[in-house]
Amino acid sequence: MSIFPPSPQTPILSTHKLSLLFDEGQTRALDGVDIEVGEGEFVAITGPSGCGKSSLLNLIGTLDTPTSGDIHFRTQPYSALRDLSLFRRENIGFVFQSFHLLPTLSALDNVLVPTIGRPGDHQERARALLTKLGLSKRMNHFPAKLSGGERQRVAIARALINDPDIILADEPTGSLDSANAAQVLDVLDGIRREKELTVIMVTHDASVSARADRIIRMRDGKVDAEVAA
Ligand SMILES: Nc1ncnc2c1ncn2[C@@H]1O[C@H](COP(=O)(O)OP(=O)(O)OP(=O)(O)O)[C@@H](O)[C@H]1O
Ligand SMILES: [Mg+2]
Repeated sequence: MSIFPPSPQTPILSTHKLSLLFDEGQTRALDGVDIEVGEGEFVAITGPSGCGKSSLLNLIGTLDTPTSGDIHFRTQPYSALRDLSLFRRENIGFVFQSFHLLPTLSALDNVLVPTIGRPGDHQERARALLTKLGLSKRMNHFPAKLSGGERQRVAIARALINDPDIILADEPTGSLDSANAAQVLDVLDGIRREKELTVIMVTHDASVSARADRIIRMRDGKVDAEVAA
């Protein structure tokens, strides 16, 4: 049995009949998804492989565009955005399962990548973020010399460097052992509370989704159920 909690009062993000088709319509990755996410909410997205979780995150992150439907960031429809990459850089931070760090850059320089082209000196903030994430002694290390948990914490610092409102995380603990997964989740949740960030996290791990405010379960490209965690 599922409980349908009331919609959040102030959605930071809402999707409206969002559909994403592939293979000339033969594959319905998303099939009319309507969700609302409140300011500062921590939402977990779960569901079987292929149900559309990453597709939904990619659309929310403006990495892909829907076949039909729209997304609103507060009152702003994505379809009216002129510069998607600017919008993404200013509002959204990404964390991926496989970290996506650049191997030829140090931890510090990886964190600075999203600031390229932005005026000002971001070194101090990058150092402060890495220190906060327990990496003060790892700033000059290359990714190959870091553990999985350390790499993911560098990726989290990179996601935070431009002060986004929303963090999108696709299986952020999926490549980590349970101790590192718990640590990564702890730092992400701590920063979320402190900065009042909104987090939308895809996960297969019930111990991860249990920490969310709400779980959105997907199935066959649709929302199957929304459950208070
Ligand atoms: N670029 C693409 N071209 C064709 N089909 C795609 C593409 N991307 C995703 N799909 C299909 O869309 C559906 C949803 O894929 P998606 O990656 O969103 O699933 P998922 O829920 O994230 O799965 P997993 O848990 O395995 O990561 C799947 O059937 C997938 O094969
Ligand atoms: Mg996926």
